[in-house]
Amino acid sequence: MRYNSLHSILPLFLFAALLLLCRTASADDGYNLWLKYPKVNEPERLKEYRQTISSIISSGNSATCRIIHDELKNGLYGLLGSDIPFANSNKSGSLIIGTPRTSEIINKLNVTVVLDKLGKEGYLIKSITIKGKRSLVIIASDDIGLLYGTFHLLRLIQTHRSIKNLDIISRPKIQNRILNHWDNLDGSVERGYAGKSLWKWDDLPGKIDHRYFDYARANASIGINGTVLNNVNANPNILKPDYLKKIAKLADIFRPYGIRVFLSANFSSPISGQFVLDDNRKGGIGNLKTADPLDPEVKLWWKNKVKEIYNLVPDFGGFLVKANSEGMPGPQDYKRTHADGANMLAEALEPYHGIVMWRAFVYDADVDPDRVKRAYKEFVPLDGKFHPNVFVQAKNGPLDFQPREPVQPLFGAMPKTPLMLELQCTQEYLGHSTHLVYLAPMWKEYLQFDTYAKGRGSTLGSIVDGSLEHYHMTGIAGVTNIGDDRNWCGHFFAQANWFAYGRLAWDHSLSSKEIADEWIKMTISNDSSVVAVIQSMMMGSREACVNYMTPLGLHHIMQVDFHYGPGPQHNTGREDWRSTYYHRADGIGLGFDRSSAGSNAVDQYFSPWREKFDHINTCPEKYLLWFHHIGWDYKMISGKTLWEELCSKYYSGTNFVNQMIESWSSLEKTLDPEIYLHVKAKLEKQKTDAAIWRDTCLEYFQKFSKKPIENQSSKDLQRKKKNQE
Ligand code: GCU
Repeated sequence: MRYNSLHSILPLFLFAALLLLCRTASADDGYNLWLKYPKVNEPERLKEYRQTISSIISSGNSATCRIIHDELKNGLYGLLGSDIPFANSNKSGSLIIGTPRTSEIINKLNVTVVLDKLGKEGYLIKSITIKGKRSLVIIASDDIGLLYGTFHLLRLIQTHRSIKNLDIISRPKIQNRILNHWDNLDGSVERGYAGKSLWKWDDLPGKIDHRYFDYARANASIGINGTVLNNVNANPNILKPDYLKKIAKLADIFRPYGIRVFLSANFSSPISGQFVLDDNRKGGIGNLKTADPLDPEVKLWWKNKVKEIYNLVPDFGGFLVKANSEGMPGPQDYKRTHADGANMLAEALEPYHGIVMWRAFVYDADVDPDRVKRAYKEFVPLDGKFHPNVFVQAKNGPLDFQPREPVQPLFGAMPKTPLMLELQCTQEYLGHSTHLVYLAPMWKEYLQFDTYAKGRGSTLGSIVDGSLEHYHMTGIAGVTNIGDDRNWCGHFFAQANWFAYGRLAWDHSLSSKEIADEWIKMTISNDSSVVAVIQSMMMGSREACVNYMTPLGLHHIMQVDFHYGPGPQHNTGREDWRSTYYHRADGIGLGFDRSSAGSNAVDQYFSPWREKFDHINTCPEKYLLWFHHIGWDYKMISGKTLWEELCSKYYSGTNFVNQMIESWSSLEKTLDPEIYLHVKAKLEKQKTDAAIWRDTCLEYFQKFSKKPIENQSSKDLQRKKKNQE
C-alpha cells in the first residue's frame, strides 16, 4: 500500500520539480538588458537570416575587433540557433566587416568618399553583390564604427526586421554622448535608486568586476561614448593619485568600447584642506590658499594635475563642473565669473584636446527673486566669453528635472557657446525606480520644442546637435539610473530609459514609439500583441505621472529632500526649496505668475512663445500654472473649471496606473515569470503611491479652493458610456 501511494505521487513530484526547473531556467533577472539574443521564433525570418548570413569575414585584430568578433559569434549563435563560421574568403551569404585599411575586399569597394562624411563613428550596412556573390557588408573608417554597425545589424535581427536589402548609412547627430554618474566615492549614488555605485573603488585597480565590461558593452550597443564617473557634487579626492590609477584601469576597460572617461572636478581641489571655507564640500587636496582661477599658482596646479591625468589616461575626456551651485565652490567665491573658472580649466585641458562641461544649474537668490530666471541671467551675458573647448551644460528645463517644465530658455540664447543638454535618466522626481515611467516621450517633447531662436524650425534638437548655431562641438548628457542592482536600474522598465537615452543621443529624430518598439522586442518579446500592450503602457506612462504628480504646469511640490512622494504643504527653510513658493495656492487660485505682470520669466523666451506664454488664453494648458496664477473658477478648454480640471487630471493619472496593472496582468501567461512578478509588484506600489500623490495634493489644494473633490475622469467615462449606449 505504502509503495503504491509513493508510486502514484512520484510522477507528480517529478513533474512539479521539472516545472520548477523550467521556470527557474527561463527566469530572467534582467541582467542581460536588451542584449539577450534569444533564437528567432519566426521560421520565415529565421530562414532569411540564415541565408543572408552563412559565414562571417571580419578583419582587423584590435581589441575592438575582438569585441565585434565575440558579439557576432554569440549574438548570431543565439539568434540563429547555430554557429556561423568565420571565413577568409568570400562566398554567397557572407557578412563582411571591415575598414578600408583592414580589409582588402572593403578597400576595393571604393567607399572612402562616403566614409569621409561619416566620421569615425559612422558606418554603412549594405547588401551588395561582390564578384557575383551576394554579401552583406558593414563598413566604417574606424573600428568603433564597425562595432556600432554590428550592434545595429544585431538589433535588426533581434527585432525580426528583414535584412535582405539593406542600405543603411548612420552617423551620430551629436558628438559627445555622455552618461553622468552621480556616484560618490563611498559607494553611494546621489539620486540613485538601483543599489550602490558600480565602481568598486576599494577593489580597483587590482580587482576587476566583470560588470565593468558588461556596462561598457551595453553602452556601446546604444552608442554612448563617454562617462563621467563621479558625482557633480564632487569629492576632491577623486583627483588624488590613488584614485587616478583606479580611473586609468576603468578607462582601459572602456576604451575598446569607444567610451572615454571624464571626471567631475571640485573647483576647490587646489586648496589645502586647512583652508576649508564653509563646509567640507569646499576643502581640497592641494596645498594652496586659494582656488582663484586667475591666480598663476592655481593655474599651474591644474596644469600639473591635468598632465598627471593624461599620463595615466591618454584619452581622458575632461571635466564636468558644478560651481557656485548648492554650496559647491566656484570662481564667484573669488569674485570671478563662470567664464573665468571654466576657461582656466579649459586652458589646462586644451593641449590634450580635453573639454570642460560647465554646468548652468545655478540659482543664486541674489540674481533674481524667481529661481527659474537665474541661470539665464547669469549665463547669457557670458556668451562668447568661453574658450572653444568649453560647453555650458544645461538641464532641459529652467528648474530641476520636474515631470514637466517648459524648455530652459538658455537654449538658443547663447549662439556663441556650445550648449550641452543635460537629461536625467534616474527618476529623481518621477517616482524613482518604483514607478514605471518611460521618459522618451518627455525627452522628445524637449528635443522637438521649437525655440524660435532663429525663426520657425529652431528646435532644441537642432541647437543641441549644432545644426542651428553651427557649433564646432556638440554634446548631450544623461544623469544615469544605473547601479549595482542585479538588473542595473532597479525597475526593469527603467532599463528602457537608459536604452532610450542612448538611442536619442545618437539620433534624436527617432520617435519614442519606435524606440519603445525596439526595446520591447529586444528585451521582452517580438509577439506583436505583447508589444502593442506594453508599448501603450510605456507611451502613456509619463503623461500619467505628470497628471498624478504635477498636472497643468504645477512643479516642485514634492516631499522635501527625498523627492519621492507629495509635499505641497512644505513651507519651511530656503524659500526656493519650499512647495508653497512654487504653487502659490490661495483663496483666489493656483500657480506662479511669471507673466509680464508677474516675475516676467516669459521675457526670456523668443517670440512668439514670449507672447503665447504671457497670456492666459494662449499659454498651453500644460504650462498654465507654471506661468500664471489662475482663478479656481477659470474656464479651461474642456469647459471645466480649473478646479474640476485639476481633479480630473489627478484622477486620470491614477486611472492610467490601474489600466497599466490590468494590461500587465493580461500578459501573465506570455511573460517571463520573474519579470512579470517583479513589474507587477512595482506597479502595485505605484498604484498606492500615485493615489497618495493625488489625494494629498487635492486635499491640500481643496483647503484653498473650498470645492468638492470630484472624480471627473470617472464621471467623463460614465458620460461617454451613456452616450455610446
Ligand atoms: C538636484 C538634485 C541634487 C543634485 C542637483 C544637481 O537639485 O536634487 O541631488 O545635486 O540637482 O543637478 O546638481
